[in-house]
Parts: sequence; structure tokens; C-alpha cells
Amino acid sequence: VVLFAPGCTYPAHAHKGITESYVCLSGAVSENHQGVYVPGSMIFNPPEHLHRITVGDREPALLAYAWMGDPADLHQQKMVFTRARPRPPAPARARK
Ligand SMILES: [Fe+2]
Repeated sequence: VVLFAPGCTYPAHAHKGITESYVCLSGAVSENHQGVYVPGSMIFNPPEHLHRITVGDREPALLAYAWMGDPADLHQQKMVFTRARPRPPAPARARK
């Protein structure tokens, strides 16, 4: 399960070789700004489908999700985001 805070945006991403399904358990979400999913709704994302989830402003959203795919793809899953992740700061060098 995954819990999103109110007003949260899960950035656009896709899953290589993975089929993803979400069931909304509480709250309300939208995927790619196409409709509103309420508890009991299911969202289906085929492999490589670019998707972004936004959460309503009033309450958190609890979603159950499942990934299906080849075991090698599941084990090596790397999500592809449309925006580069910020790089972590370089480690400080020890002074001599
Ligand atoms: Fe996803």
C-alpha cells in the first residue's frame, strides 16, 4: 500500500516491462488529470505508460497497488521519471 499526503503529486513516470494496478482505498486521486478516482476505483497502467498521480487537497489517499511482470523486470525495476532527480550533495572531504 502507499499513502499520499493531501495535495501530493507523484511525478510523471513509467515502469519498464511492468503492469501496474492501483485500487483506491480512501481519499481521492487523479491520474494524468483524467477523472477523479474514489474508494473502490481501479487504475490500470500498462507497461511504459507515462502516468502522474495527484491527490485531492482535503484528505490523504491510501492506495493498494500491484506490479506484474517478468521476475527479472520486477527485480531490476527502474522507474523512468520525466524530470531528473536532484543529485545528492557530494560528500564532504576530510580535512587533514
Ligand atoms: Fe506507477
